Amino acid sequence: MRHAEASVHIEDRGFQFADGVYEVIAVMGGRFVDEAGHLARLTYSMSQLRITPPVVEAALKLLSRGLVRRNRLINGILYIQVTRGRAPRDFKFPRDANSSLVMTTRRMDLSGAAGEMGVEVITVPDIRWARRDIKSTGLLAQVLAKQGAAERGGAEAWMVDAQGFVTEGASSNAWIVTSEGVLVTRQADNSVLHGVTGNALEILAREHGFTVERRAFTLEEAFQAREAFLSSATTFCTPVVRIDDSPIANGHPGEITRTLRDSYRNYATARQELAFPWPC
Ligand code: PDD
Repeated sequence: MRHAEASVHIEDRGFQFADGVYEVIAVMGGRFVDEAGHLARLTYSMSQLRITPPVVEAALKLLSRGLVRRNRLINGILYIQVTRGRAPRDFKFPRDANSSLVMTTRRMDLSGAAGEMGVEVITVPDIRWARRDIKSTGLLAQVLAKQGAAERGGAEAWMVDAQGFVTEGASSNAWIVTSEGVLVTRQADNSVLHGVTGNALEILAREHGFTVERRAFTLEEAFQAREAFLSSATTFCTPVVRIDDSPIANGHPGEITRTLRDSYRNYATARQELAFPWPC
């Protein structure tokens, strides 16, 4: 359907209750990056909320390829959203709604300059719900966090829990490198989204011989870090050079971050399946 003509019903539960889940998959050089991981997480998110999958995974893959082909997408993102469907407004699950499926593509330069130069992050209190492992479309806290960051000149917001530990970015996972050269990112429990990009980076980091620790780190530790970076499907591995106006180390992207960014770019372009067989 043409983008301008696509619409959802006013009683779609995604619209009224944010009763839905989503995924963002990068497309690089005509290849889906980590498609399997994103589809597995979509299935997990749906199952946690007991949303019936609108189509089986094989059909979703077929639809994704059709969408990328029709839009001639070489570099950008595929967005997938599933909601519990349309039903008269009532908090309880409707008995007979069909889940809604929305899929769009968008051209984007995913290897942008920010990724080379590094970005500033701004910290905000984490005011979200307790099931952040579900990739829910209920993103109001992240909207406020990102807007707050933008107003203070930051590209991303790092959310900090009541104990002073960084949970994650508004739309990315948070990482630091300690003075001993150990990479630290939060354990994959209910307090954060289990990043597909982060998982790939962890494997690449270990291949390079780096040590990765999955644990919470405090904001104080982040200020003292040798390097910091963030990871997501759209930012890959992006250096964080300032937090709340304080430079991290010398205020320039760190060596380990650069190494991982290069490895990830290589992984994203060379080690993935083509969305459809055309020469790129
Ligand atoms: N966001 N944490 C949060 C809260 C996120 O929203 C995201 C991704 C991540 C990183 O997950 P992944 O590496 O699987 O993309 C972590 C997407 C990009 C978005 O909402 O646009």
